[in-house]
Amino acid sequence: MNILILGGGGREHALAWAVMQNPKCDKLIVAPGNAGIAAIATCAKLDIEDGGAVAQFAEAEAIDMVIIGPEAPLAAGVADRLRDSGLLVFGPSQAAARLEASKSFTKEVCDAAHAPTAGYRHFTHLEEAKAHVRAEGAPIVVKADGLAAGKGVIIAETVAQAEAALDDMFGGEFGTAGAEVVIEEFMTGEEASFFVLVDGETVLPIGTAQDHKRIGDGDTGPNTGGMGAYSPAPVMTDDVTQKALEQIVRPTMVEMAKRGTPYQGVLYVGLMIEEGQPRLVEYNVRFGDPECQVLMMRLGAQALDLMHACADGRLDQAQVTWAEDHAMTVVLAANGYPGAYQKGTEILGLEAMASDSSHMVFHAGTKSEAGKLLANGGRVLNATARGASLQQARDRAYALVARVDWPDGVYRQDIGWRALNRD
Ligand code: AMP
Ligand code: GLY
Repeated sequence: MNILILGGGGREHALAWAVMQNPKCDKLIVAPGNAGIAAIATCAKLDIEDGGAVAQFAEAEAIDMVIIGPEAPLAAGVADRLRDSGLLVFGPSQAAARLEASKSFTKEVCDAAHAPTAGYRHFTHLEEAKAHVRAEGAPIVVKADGLAAGKGVIIAETVAQAEAALDDMFGGEFGTAGAEVVIEEFMTGEEASFFVLVDGETVLPIGTAQDHKRIGDGDTGPNTGGMGAYSPAPVMTDDVTQKALEQIVRPTMVEMAKRGTPYQGVLYVGLMIEEGQPRLVEYNVRFGDPECQVLMMRLGAQALDLMHACADGRLDQAQVTWAEDHAMTVVLAANGYPGAYQKGTEILGLEAMASDSSHMVFHAGTKSEAGKLLANGGRVLNATARGASLQQARDRAYALVARVDWPDGVYRQDIGWRALNRD
């Protein structure tokens, strides 16, 4: 099978790494890819949000299946355009991608599906939104309705903070994404991510994870795209997982199909769990980054068979082979991230490092230039390892981190603290 993966982050390196281990993969191209991906697959320059251009490229390269990594091409309708060309696609349609692209849409679907989630109101006028915040009090959560690159959510500790966030959003800080806002009840509990594959009908769980959004140890400092993750998430017991499936995921998928917009691809279910009861925080229509890295480390080559069955509508016949393993990934970021940071600093030490089915440094923002490996983004490397226990996975991941020679790199020392303390 000839496969094209769209994207160029750590998530896509992990996907490419798993796909390449499967003997069914004859050829793998990743667009745009990065320096780490270039070591295991062909990288191609391509406007991945232009469905026509991707379709043309796929035809010229005799591609059988396209795996779409990030949300932007999905929200732009690239999956629809590729399916129209007769390609197998792993990723939802533009209509189904609204589960991530519009928070008010998701809330409305959850209402129809009776899925437990935070209480909310949807506003298009600043003064009405402010009046609501004053009536409800704080803490309260203010969200820009559309895609805002993960920055459109404000957890307001005070009414004044909530009002300031509303001023910003209606003032255009998030472009058209902020012309509408959703104001939500603040939920307490423990967060976890639950990943399922959906082929329109069948829902197949493929793993759970927890990430660390803040830049600093002890979950302090500003939010990032994620500084590390581990799988499985201990809070996702069999009972909580069953509740999430039966009360949240399956009813939402039935509702999407009923509307004529069945969901196909991976669904990232963000949950808040309190006293054994899960509630939905958000859906994402893609793998998490860096959660994908730990999921791929645990699934290995079977990830391709699962994504293929998903794209082909055969998930009812698919099975996950589970191992009693744990995985952890530690993100190395450029000093300054998520604020301003330098690009182009040199990274050494990776060539000498052994990688195998339990140890891998995935690349996120890297590029190679004149034989040197250079940092080329905020999140740069993902030191990822697997073990029989979370502690072993942690020790192995940090042993990889210790061997990276990159003075500009920063990372958290405490990935997994919550789960490790629980043990
Ligand atoms: P979202 O982009 O919707 O996932 O929000 C980003 C983060 O904000 C989530 O991962 C949660 O940590 C937090 N969050 C979002 N909505 C709520 C809520 N209603 N109550 C508490 N925390 C929330
Ligand atoms: N790590 C969080 C996300 O991918 O949205």
